[in-house]
Amino acid sequence: MSFLSVTRVIKRFGDVEAVKAVDLEVPRGAFFALLGPSGCGKTTLLRMIAGFEQPDDGVIAIDGVAMNGVPAHQRPTNMVFQSYAIFPHLNVFDNVAYGLRRDGLGKDALRARVEAMLATVRLEGMGARRADQLSGGQRQRVALARALVKQPKILLLDEPLGALDKRLREQMQVELRALQKSLGITFLLVTHDQEEALSMADHIAVMNGGRILQIASPRDLYERPNCREVADFIGEINFFHASVKEIAGDNVTCNAGLLGIVPVPRRAFGFAIAAGDHVLLALRPERITLSGGTVAGEIAAASFLGERSHYHARIAGRSEPVFVASSGPAPQGPVMLGWNPADVIALPFVE
Ligand SMILES: Nc1ncnc2c1ncn2[C@@H]1O[C@H](COP(=O)(O)OP(=O)(O)OP(=O)(O)O)[C@@H](O)[C@H]1O
Ligand SMILES: [Mg+2]
Repeated sequence: MSFLSVTRVIKRFGDVEAVKAVDLEVPRGAFFALLGPSGCGKTTLLRMIAGFEQPDDGVIAIDGVAMNGVPAHQRPTNMVFQSYAIFPHLNVFDNVAYGLRRDGLGKDALRARVEAMLATVRLEGMGARRADQLSGGQRQRVALARALVKQPKILLLDEPLGALDKRLREQMQVELRALQKSLGITFLLVTHDQEEALSMADHIAVMNGGRILQIASPRDLYERPNCREVADFIGEINFFHASVKEIAGDNVTCNAGLLGIVPVPRRAFGFAIAAGDHVLLALRPERITLSGGTVAGEIAAASFLGERSHYHARIAGRSEPVFVASSGPAPQGPVMLGWNPADVIALPFVE
């Protein structure tokens, strides 16, 4: 049974349906990410789980207990907010101790809990520092410590690293992941940064327009997206229109126009198909080779990025370039694009 269970939850703000009948099952101890573009309803969903917002319909249950009507401070959750609000006038120790003081914990027990927590987030010895004397990353760790010191069963994190620069964000991603694994607390992280979700989470739910499009492991989301929106949102990808030509057991052939007749394994289609159906075929840039293939093209642009290079290959008759990522030697002159049929991603075509 899942630890956090969200069933048919709906939230409206006036005419706006911010969350549309969302279902979500989060296993105990998981690092789960909610990923989606700005305005898709991530914060609203998180606030309902935390109890800061009431659903218009549906049920949220934690550890088997329905949370309808349970106020935020009685839920086994704690939240790290999108704009990490720590008290600037309090020192680090008092920021972390704040929630415990309200619980009426004894002085020594309180000190021990706070010191242990500061050590966990690598801020030992910094208790006396004022919050406005900290770096962004340190402030973020104070916000984390303040939420974790209450020992929630679920930690809700709303874009916790959004305000940090790239390098610090990447460092904090590694730390946060290690912290989650060592504490064993269920983390539900909201982000619009797909790399962040892919690198940190065990499971990702992709949201758009108040709905969940797909829930899967990072690898499955990347290799087996279930629709064009997910494929497009997670990493770079090339789409090709095609129609199903023939289905013979495990082998499907598609007519993909400029690409010619393309074989695709039957299992690549996670949906029903019949001969003549319009489908979308998709290829990740790193799955396309620049030589040995069957599709003639030429390189229109190249950028060297260290361990790999990115190319835009032009195919006669196709307006947009094909995006190729390669770590091989730089191509000279015309190229012959190719790929392994097992790497073709097949998606339903929706008008
Ligand atoms: N209190 C509110 N009153 C009215 N509309 C709201 C309210 N809160 C959110 N919304 C609307 O609900 C939708 C979802 O907002 P939400 O804050 O959940 O998005 P988000 O996915 O967290 O976006 P971001 O990545 O920008 O933080 C948006 O259209 C937003 O304008
Ligand atoms: Mg938000």
